[in-house]
Amino acid sequence: MEKTVNYIPIIIESLIFGKNSDYPLYIKSADNYILYRSKALIFSKSDALRLKNNGIEYLYIKEDDKEKYEVDILEHFDDIIGSKNLNFEEKAVKIYIYTKVYAEIILTTGNLKDNNEKIKRSIETTMDYLLMSEFAFMNLLNLSGYDRNEVGHGMNVSIYAMALANRLGFSNKISLYEIGLAGLTHDIGKLMIPKEFLSKKGLTENEIYEIRKHPIYSKEILIKNNVDNISIINATLEHHETSIGSGYPFGKSEENISTYGKILSIVNRFDSLTRNRPYKVKLSVAGSLSQMEQSSELYNKAFLKEFILLMSKKY
Ligand SMILES: [Fe+2]
Repeated sequence: MEKTVNYIPIIIESLIFGKNSDYPLYIKSADNYILYRSKALIFSKSDALRLKNNGIEYLYIKEDDKEKYEVDILEHFDDIIGSKNLNFEEKAVKIYIYTKVYAEIILTTGNLKDNNEKIKRSIETTMDYLLMSEFAFMNLLNLSGYDRNEVGHGMNVSIYAMALANRLGFSNKISLYEIGLAGLTHDIGKLMIPKEFLSKKGLTENEIYEIRKHPIYSKEILIKNNVDNISIINATLEHHETSIGSGYPFGKSEENISTYGKILSIVNRFDSLTRNRPYKVKLSVAGSLSQMEQSSELYNKAFLKEFILLMSKKY
């Protein structure tokens, strides 16, 4: 029996310009996949532009070639920051798209262990980009607006957390990486919660109780993946805690919440408010910030003030 070939979409900007790809690229037309580029043909920036001008956002690769594609991206990560072919905005696009490839893998499978190098490289590159200029943050956020799912949420929280930590004076790259990883993986424990609970309106008490365990599940998944750094673990555990002890899972009060936990609780809340969920409508950036300001007793006040300044400056 003939084997069915599966194709997976890849966003055009993720292709490496000026390089001959190790796998063929396809275009989808109606329900057919048509060969667009044989393997070993160079894909250039003008090819990408031409496709975009024709309204094509995605090309397709055979599922069997997915690993080669991911290896390509990993190898290319190191070149982005110093690349002379890419302008500052284009660098943000590449970094964001590449990070998304890996974020999607770990946040949908919970497998960090086998993707450790990939995720490390992507967070470090995002951090290096953020540290290049004050405009970097805005460039990344402009892109993140398109991804309104859990993967987008993890990526946003990671970017906001690194930017806020940096604004608060964290300049040590190890600390920024830790907070970036905590931000990306803080909700990974939701993989253990039945999907229908997460999109339901009007939850029962029992369902709320289950959902509120997700920070504990995040910790468990991280430990299972050999992430045992206590700062990262605490930050994920504490991202729903509040300064007045009304949060969960432990109802900790401010003096018992770690610094990274205080940062994550602010940026997580902000990103959640700016997102549509099946059970709620999103608020604008200004609306979200003003709601948080009105309930400032929930957060570390000095950190919240800095976050509001960070966001107001960039929007
Ligand atoms: Fe959460």
